[in-house]
Amino acid sequence: MTLQEFGYASRELWRASGRIDDTALVGPFRMLTEEGLDCLAEVCDRLEPAAGDSGFIATRRLRSADLMSPFINNMIRDRSFLLACSRLVGVPLIPHPLRIPTAQINYFESQSRPEIVRWHRDGMDYVFTVQLSGFDEYEGGRFLYFQGRTGEFEDVQEGDARIMEAPCGERGASLFLHGSRIFHAVTPVTKGRRVTLVISLFCPYFAGRDSNTFWHLAGDDGVLATLPCWVRLKWPVRDVAMDFSMRAASPVITWEDLR
Ligand SMILES: [Fe+2]
Repeated sequence: MTLQEFGYASRELWRASGRIDDTALVGPFRMLTEEGLDCLAEVCDRLEPAAGDSGFIATRRLRSADLMSPFINNMIRDRSFLLACSRLVGVPLIPHPLRIPTAQINYFESQSRPEIVRWHRDGMDYVFTVQLSGFDEYEGGRFLYFQGRTGEFEDVQEGDARIMEAPCGERGASLFLHGSRIFHAVTPVTKGRRVTLVISLFCPYFAGRDSNTFWHLAGDDGVLATLPCWVRLKWPVRDVAMDFSMRAASPVITWEDLR
């Protein structure tokens, strides 16, 4: 789906050098082979003891998962992986230079007190979610999104026809979401366990309009941890593709690579 189908005007979607940034939602698609999926699920299971309380959407979460797992690090910095993601969205994408939120594992578990559905939009623009559990392993945990502009969300009532469920119940199903421009939520898990890996990518050519704000990030990670990340994002560049790839420790992906 395109952002124009969410009510955004084409003039809002034109970016640097006459490119349009219009992809809203893609999926479900497969990112990994069965074997790759089994490896990733095992990695995420093994990392669970290191996860902390999320205090918001998931029960627990682990940020900077790529710094703890060579598997995840190599996966999200693999050139063919990045090319596939870039072609899917239509813009060159590399791991986000903020580093801390780049790869996050979310663990949702049923809780004794019923949680409310937490609607939000992300600081991140290009967000890929890989489902590591299928519908047969849990109840609840539905991925909902609002098919409208973010500014229209405030007036939305329960049961609004623009609230949709993303079809990503199968283990291994992956979804792309333009996270900063689409309100979304995961309903509480009422039984079982649901694990997802969320990968945030970044377009070096549109760095000037990155939707993250310092205080949103600092609220999550603290001022001291956010400062070096912020410098990597905001420090002036000479060659956007090259400089941001170095800051994200990523292969270079250019417009030419998308052809
Ligand atoms: Fe989100």
